[in-house]
This record gives sequence, structure tokens and C-alpha cells, in this order.
Amino acid sequence: MAASEVDDREPAEADAGAPLLDVGGVLVGTAGAHRVAHPAQDVLVGVDRSDPSGNVAHAQEARARRSRRGCGPFTGPRRSGLVAYPRRDAFPSILCSLMRALVTGGGGFIGSHIVERLLGDGHDVRVLDNFATGRRENLLAFTEDVDLVEGDIQSYERVHTAVRDRDVVFHQAALPSVPRSIQDPLTSNAVNVIGTLNVLLAARDSGVRRVVYASSSSVYGANPALPKREDLPTLPISPYAVAKLAAESYCRSFTEVYGLETVALRYFNVFGPRQDPLSQYSAVVPLFITKLLDGEAPTIFGDGEQSRDFTPVANVVEANLRAAEAQGDGVVGCVFNAACGERYTLNHLFGEIRELAGADVEPSYAPPRLGDVKHSQADIARAREHLGYEPLVTLADGLRGCVEFYAAVREAAGSR
Ligand SMILES: NC(=O)c1ccc[n+]([C@@H]2O[C@H](COP(=O)([O-])OP(=O)(O)OC[C@H]3O[C@@H](n4cnc5c(N)ncnc54)[C@H](O)[C@@H]3O)[C@@H](O)[C@H]2O)c1
Repeated sequence: MAASEVDDREPAEADAGAPLLDVGGVLVGTAGAHRVAHPAQDVLVGVDRSDPSGNVAHAQEARARRSRRGCGPFTGPRRSGLVAYPRRDAFPSILCSLMRALVTGGGGFIGSHIVERLLGDGHDVRVLDNFATGRRENLLAFTEDVDLVEGDIQSYERVHTAVRDRDVVFHQAALPSVPRSIQDPLTSNAVNVIGTLNVLLAARDSGVRRVVYASSSSVYGANPALPKREDLPTLPISPYAVAKLAAESYCRSFTEVYGLETVALRYFNVFGPRQDPLSQYSAVVPLFITKLLDGEAPTIFGDGEQSRDFTPVANVVEANLRAAEAQGDGVVGCVFNAACGERYTLNHLFGEIRELAGADVEPSYAPPRLGDVKHSQADIARAREHLGYEPLVTLADGLRGCVEFYAAVREAAGSR
């Protein structure tokens, strides 16, 4: 891996039997992490949302359908560790109408949070996923409410089936792994580029109003400038980052050439509940949390003073919803950073999580890894101006919710 690539997933390394993961430029040990069912299964999802327009037939149908299924009024997450998404009527300026949405990759970490928020807001939701990296458990709480199309975005026919009658597509499906893209760039390209092309073609052919695309801060790659503004030259390094940028370019092309509305969001170091701490390419936050809940010390490579724009998943979800609805110049065919616009060091992150987890351990430091980027931070002015985006959840609150989630997972595993 060359220097300066920033994303949540970079090559893994091994150390004395305990796998060490390189996450956003940091390697952390994973031995002892838990793989158990998620308490997401306990989330209550129902609908009791106001509908400001009051005349969206499909929304009424969806509500009636859910009512027939016996879904009660929305009571929020049963467990406090899950994200409590704000009610849509808290934001009267957006989301005035309900939509029929497709979430590709809805069984994944971020996709399942978009599904949760959309359902909570009363939208009609379909998911397309082949569960290559996602988990069925992520959708267990929503099985009654989501139309699930199982399939591969590499198949135009499957995607075409999934986008039928949809207003908006939230395209999250991808093989989101830098190391895997280095080992197998052809597959990375097939899923992340050809798959996106299928989504765009099917959306164009089916009259979808807008496609919101999940891009990545990794497209900035070797560009050292801080903070990262969307108009900086992109210098992707890994095949994964190249694919993300190519797919972004296809989005813009489809807007220019076919008039399909597209918006691309560049995510920065997203974290939150349902992120798999055992994935070979998992992110630093769930790894720190699961280690510290076990009273073990994670390994930090370098002095821990490297910093990242750690973004609670609820903020990325909010950016997606804004991107789906925003109007005006400078929205369609454009890219936006989706982040907090702040950066925190790994030492800070460790300290916060240690306190929340009630652990009494020091991190174990190891020599810095060659090629680690020192700092990453998004400029979110463009998203603020054109999408009306504002981060809803602070790092501290995001971490608190995350620790509660993984503590509940641990408790559930212990009680079995
Ligand atoms: N998590 C981050 O910090 C981060 C940062 C930058 C960009 N992103 C982007 O956000 C999106 C979601 O990432 P995530 O972290 O939730 O990862 P994830 O692996 O949890 O989700 C990806 C989903 O896509 C599905 N998928 C993969 N290949 C597929 C295929 N061929 N057909 C259908 N579905 C397929 C997976 O099964 C999974 O459910 C990805 O596009 C990723 O590149 C994530």
C-alpha cells in the first residue's frame, strides 16, 4: 500500500497468531472479539409518522400493509445501544414526500442503517443484496417491512427487477475492501464498477428519479491536502479507490448524458452498531470497543497521534436522505463529503472508548506502519450549503451508542 490512502480498510497483517487489522491507517489486534447474533433483532420497527403531504398513495398502502401485519406504533429501539434516528417531522424542510426506495447492499453495515431510518420515516423500502459481506441478521428486525431481492448487482436483470417502481436508489452495495481489491482487482472492478453501471442503467431504464451513490474518501488517495475538499485533485491508489472514483464518474456521466439524477457521497471512516468487529477488514472503532469490553489492550501502530474524521453512521444516513431530496443548483451530478468535518487522534478515540467501556488498560503501541497517512479530515461546507447537511451525532455520542450496542451483544452472547 502506498502512502496517503485513507479509508476504513487497508491491508491486514498477522502477528503471533492474533490477526492484526489495518484500519484507517491503524493496525489493531482482534483476538478475543465476539461473533454473536446482533441485538438488532430486538428492534421494534413500526410506523406512526406524520405525512405532511398526506396524499402519497404508495405510502398509505405501505402503512396499511404494515398495519395489517400488526406493526405497532413506532416506539424506537428497544435497546439503547441502537441508533435512535430523529423523526422526519423534526426536519420539515426535507422529505416532504414519502418515497419508494431501493437500498442496494441493504444487508450491510451502512445499508441496514439507511433501511432502518427509511422505515422509521414511513418510506417503502426494498433491499437488493447477495450478502457477500453483509449479514441477514442486520435485516432481521425489518423482515416484515422490507421487500428483499436477493441477487448480485453484476446481473443487469436482477438489478432491473429490484429497481422496478422505485423513486430513489441508495446504492451501497460494493466489495468495500482495499486489501481484497489489491489481491483481486478484477472482481473489485466487476462489483464496484460494472455493478454500479448496472444500477445506473437499470435506474435509467426504469425511470428512477435519483441515485445516491456511496463513494469513499479513498478517492483523495495520495493528495496530502487538509481538509479534503471535493474540488481537490483525486489521486486514488488502490484498485478499490480507483473503482470508487470510476463509479462516481459514471454517476456524473449518467446525469450529463441521460439526465438521470445522481449524487455521490464520499464517506469518511464510518462507524456504528452492526459493524462487524470480526471482519478481516473491520474498522478501528468496533475493534477497540470489543477488545476493551473484554478488558484487553488493542494495538495501536505508531504514536497514536494520527487523526481521522470518525463519522457516526447516523450522520452518513442523514447525508443520504438529504442527498435524495435536495434541490437546486450544485446538487445533481455532484459529489459531497459525508463526515463530521473534525478529526480526532487514535489516542483520543482510545481514551473515550476506554472510559465508556470502563476498562483499565493501556494500549499496546507498535512501530508505525509504512505508508500510513497521518491525518484525514473532510471539509463539509459543500454538503452544508447544497444539501443542508449537518452532522446530527457527535463523536462522543456515536461512541456511547456503539459501546452500548456491543455491550448488549456481549451480554446476549453470555446469557445463551
Ligand atoms: N464503512 C466505511 O467507513 C466506508 C467508507 C467509505 C465508503 N464506504 C462505502 O459504503 C458502502 C457500504 O459499506 P459498508 O461499510 O456498509 O460495507 P458492507 O460490506 O457492510 O456493505 C456492503 C453490502 O453490499 C453487499 N454486496 C457486496 N457485493 C454485492 C453484489 N455483488 N451484489 C449485491 N450486493 C453486494 C454486501 O453483501 C453488503 O451487504 C460501500 O459502497 C463502501 O464502499 C464505506
